[in-house]
Amino acid sequence: NLLDVAINNDLDLDGFGACEGTLACSTCHLVFKKEDFDNIEEMCTDEELDMLDLAYGLTDESRLGCQVC
Ligand code: FES
Repeated sequence: NLLDVAINNDLDLDGFGACEGTLACSTCHLVFKKEDFDNIEEMCTDEELDMLDLAYGLTDESRLGCQVC
């Protein structure tokens, strides 16, 4: 998933993925471009939505990176 991509590429994302994909943080919040958002799989858990609500700068194209495959 995207979280692994970020980690494997040593991206300098400060604190990104703090909970290691267990939906316990919102540090992996990503904002997609509209066309990309339409291409990724839909959100499949309410937990993601709940956690996204806490994310800074929530948009209609927001997802939690660790939940996007
Ligand atoms: Fe914590 Fe995604 S890494 S919710």
